[in-house]
Amino acid sequence: MPKDADAKTNPAHVAIIMDGNGRWAQKRGRPRLFGHHAGARRVREIVKACPDLGVKYLTIFAFSTENWKRTQTEVAGLMSLFRKYLEREAQELFESGVCVRFIGDRIRLDDKLVTLMDDLELRTAGNDLVHLTVALNYGGRDEVTRAAKRLAYEIEQGRLTHDDVDAETLSKFLDTHVLPDPDLVIRTSGEARISNFLLWQSAYAEYEFIDTLWPDFTADEFAKVLASFGGRERRFGAVLT
Ligand code: IPE
Ligand code: IPE
Ligand code: MG
Repeated sequence: MPKDADAKTNPAHVAIIMDGNGRWAQKRGRPRLFGHHAGARRVREIVKACPDLGVKYLTIFAFSTENWKRTQTEVAGLMSLFRKYLEREAQELFESGVCVRFIGDRIRLDDKLVTLMDDLELRTAGNDLVHLTVALNYGGRDEVTRAAKRLAYEIEQGRLTHDDVDAETLSKFLDTHVLPDPDLVIRTSGEARISNFLLWQSAYAEYEFIDTLWPDFTADEFAKVLASFGGRERRFGAVLT
């Protein structure tokens, strides 16, 4: 266990915007996909570190609803990387007690990838050591919009009325309905924005923006970021006495 890890004060749900793969590759004169592959190796390390660090829920942003704007080569390369990653890591994730879930709209993802996602969710559904949620073709606005649409449909069908519409009911229609809200959102690579990640769920999350590019983000640095979280006072709008 790293010396600065403290399971009592560390956040239970950490969400990460894994940014900086492209710049990491560029700095080495390599194509962007080289950075994405290096980034995928880091995911493995960070997931493995979670139990010792007291992180029960880890949610990672892998591909946004806006990332389709990238070149066809990069998008196809990323989709192929996701498929290979799931094929390669499935057994290890299952055996190490990780429960895997995916959030985001699956409609635009290819069938082979969706099958791998469904299979992994099913296979790891009984695990409870760490809950890993991968945001793939995910956008906060898209998620809330899809939830609102489903809510409207329930009203149209007469199963709900407009009086039932409150924050709690809406939350039940979000992709994250079984997850607690994140306590801490980390973004690597020096950008201080949230790029459409967990807009609803992060209402009272703490944020940490760090300069390290994602492929350089080690488990030790992760432990240090979590340790600094322990010192924060979270008030949730109240005045603490
Ligand atoms: C994050 O790294 C990974 C994805 C968005 C898929 P980037 O690819 O955004 O890397 P930079 O920000 O261009 O360096
Ligand atoms: C956010 O990073 C999406 C992921 C990390 C998957 P981006 O690199 O796409 O975000 P912007 O374009 O810098 O806002
Ligand atoms: Mg980026």
